[in-house]
Amino acid sequence: MRLLSVRLIISLILAVTLVSVFSAYYQVRGERRSLRNDLDRRAAVLADSLAGNLERYLEEGSSAKLQLLVDRFSNRERLVGVAVVNDKLEAIALSGGLAELLDAQLAPVLARARAGWEKQSAFVRGPSGSLHVYATPLEASTGAKRALLVIVHDATYIGAQTAHVWRETFLRVLVQVFLIVLITVLIVRWSIAGPIARVSQWLRALRAGTAQDASVTVPDFDLLRPLARDMTSIARSLAAARSAAEREAQLRQAAESSWTSERLAVHVRSKLGDSRLFVVSNREPYSHVRSGKSVQCVVPASGLVTALEPILRACDGTWVAHGSGDADRIMVDAHDRLAVPPEEPKYTLRRVWLTKEEEDGYYYGFANEGLWPLCHIAHTRPTFRAADWEHYRQANIKFADAVLEEMRDTREPMLLVQDYHFALLPRLIKQKRPDARVAIFWHIPWPNSESFAICPWQPELLDGLLGADVIGFHIQSHCTNFLQAVDRTLECRIDWEHVAVNRKGHRTVVKPFPISVHFPESPGRDSTQASGYLERAALLRELGVEALYVGVGVDRVDYTKGILERFLAIERLLETHPPYQGKFVFVQIGSPSRTHIKRYHDLLADVEAGAERINWRFQTSTWRPIVFLKGHFSHAEIQRYYQAADLCMVTSLHDGMNLVAKEFIAARQDEQGVLILSLFTGAARELLDSVLVNPYDIESTAEAICHALEMEPEERAARMRRLRKVVKEQNIYRWAGNLVAELCDVRLEMPQEKGKRGHARVAAQSS
Ligand code: G6P
Repeated sequence: MRLLSVRLIISLILAVTLVSVFSAYYQVRGERRSLRNDLDRRAAVLADSLAGNLERYLEEGSSAKLQLLVDRFSNRERLVGVAVVNDKLEAIALSGGLAELLDAQLAPVLARARAGWEKQSAFVRGPSGSLHVYATPLEASTGAKRALLVIVHDATYIGAQTAHVWRETFLRVLVQVFLIVLITVLIVRWSIAGPIARVSQWLRALRAGTAQDASVTVPDFDLLRPLARDMTSIARSLAAARSAAEREAQLRQAAESSWTSERLAVHVRSKLGDSRLFVVSNREPYSHVRSGKSVQCVVPASGLVTALEPILRACDGTWVAHGSGDADRIMVDAHDRLAVPPEEPKYTLRRVWLTKEEEDGYYYGFANEGLWPLCHIAHTRPTFRAADWEHYRQANIKFADAVLEEMRDTREPMLLVQDYHFALLPRLIKQKRPDARVAIFWHIPWPNSESFAICPWQPELLDGLLGADVIGFHIQSHCTNFLQAVDRTLECRIDWEHVAVNRKGHRTVVKPFPISVHFPESPGRDSTQASGYLERAALLRELGVEALYVGVGVDRVDYTKGILERFLAIERLLETHPPYQGKFVFVQIGSPSRTHIKRYHDLLADVEAGAERINWRFQTSTWRPIVFLKGHFSHAEIQRYYQAADLCMVTSLHDGMNLVAKEFIAARQDEQGVLILSLFTGAARELLDSVLVNPYDIESTAEAICHALEMEPEERAARMRRLRKVVKEQNIYRWAGNLVAELCDVRLEMPQEKGKRGHARVAAQSS
């Protein structure tokens, strides 16, 4: 920086000096020219005024008169002298000190004037400086007597004037250089050196790890603004890498085998090798929706996105999903692809388009009116329509085509199929790409085989699923139910020991992979506890209720979630434990879901009416027992409720896993709060320190609420600590890591291998 400043200053000094000297030079030249011309003009005017009389006296031959006239003029300002000389250049009349000059300095000028008898003027060097000599011919009217009038002026003042200009220039340059150097130094210090020093200080802090994450913004860097964005993102990456490394180090130190998104990324990259990863799901990870005149990018609040994004980000995979946003089409390229996440593209989203009829039949019809109630034992009768089944089949073919197109150039691609929307997809893919490794994860329960058998297309669904190399469920009992359904329906050999199905030379492993959530690192217990109380007061103020205890429920409004049963339990609590009236408020966040289906539409109305009825029964002017918040809430908004609540209620009538239960635990960094959890969720198998309830049993659920509210603080904290340990260890990254690892361990059976094994068997039999 110092060298830069010195160079800058020297260059500026040189530039300013050169410019000033050049301009001064031209100014001096002009000035001198004008002074000389001025002197010339004065001499000419004087000559003109003298010439008449001199010529007359010359004609008269009156030397005395000539001398008198010459003397009269000789005392004018700057005039050295006047002389009249004859054709031999001898003085006829002479004034001042011209006598010595005539034969010396003036002689060449006079000789030139005499030679042509014409006017001559010149500057000559005299004994005491510069002289201006003006010589003009005088003629008597006869023309016989010729003479020259000589006027000599002192021209030294021109030199003095010029020197004065140079002196002024020098002083001006000096002042300018001083000011410019001063301003430059200040600019360099304020606008460049200062900010750069701050940036470098900040970088040093970043390198040393003393800059907090929140401060990962480049300090004011006005002059080099274009760099600022890149530096910010480098800084963020650095901060993220540092915290990941620290976390890894802590984990190693604690000899724990926790999974992080970074560990998952490394794991997947190492497993994938040259291959690529593909994911297919119905719900897309980013959808674009119109909002007024602009387009908004929306991330659905889905555990699936949290789970799969880190893998796709790590290995630049492709996610194929239904483009359901109303602005989705305008955001894709000619191949229906776009790079996501929008702010920092890491992988490809390939959107598949469905017509309204296809969506009605495949998604609303077969998937959500057929399979969903079929798999959830929640006493809503499944509806099976042949037309819906046909749409489901066609949609599976459509998604399979898109997946096959995406994996065309990949050898031994790896595909993770998500959920009950795509039971037929594994087979469709395997038929065309036997070199692909295919896993399907069934995010909802698999019911007992008698229940599943009512589906008219049971064999086709099972056959489609068994195209996969790995089928994942949340818990073992879903795996068992599935295997029993396969056993009853299809001809195959079930390897109960290794929990796999062998059918037509293909082996499918069936395993539980309990899904989970991201578990954020704890910021420190005290700070969260203090902010928790403040947050609760703020939330209650926003909701317009006063209460001592807060409960929370977060669900899609779905009949499997037991929301109405939950409300009945709250009503029962208030009946059996009146002191809680006016003191306990339950906040139910309910996002409307699949409302084109009548059952869902009616349920939403029932839930609203249920809350309204109970509120009407108990409410006071400042309190009501149930606050129903209908709408879609962001992850951050929901966190506030989780953190402010005394208890969270998950009362699903049947649920594959239920991630709300785990999200609540992950949010409770203060180790407070009680989870009331339905026995009929997959989560109940892991979260044994929750208060487990049968949601159909309203009385005991009401008691469970009371128990949760009155639980001793030590017990509450101990339970939450143990619950947090479970969720921390069994987090979402472990789920994804295990699934990918299982799939990578699959031994691919290529058609030629099967052929060879077939031949070998035949040969063995014949021998
Ligand atoms: C369940 C399913 C998911 C589905 C989610 C939301 O959790 O297992 O596959 O994405 O509900 O339902 P939606 O129909 O809105 O995608």
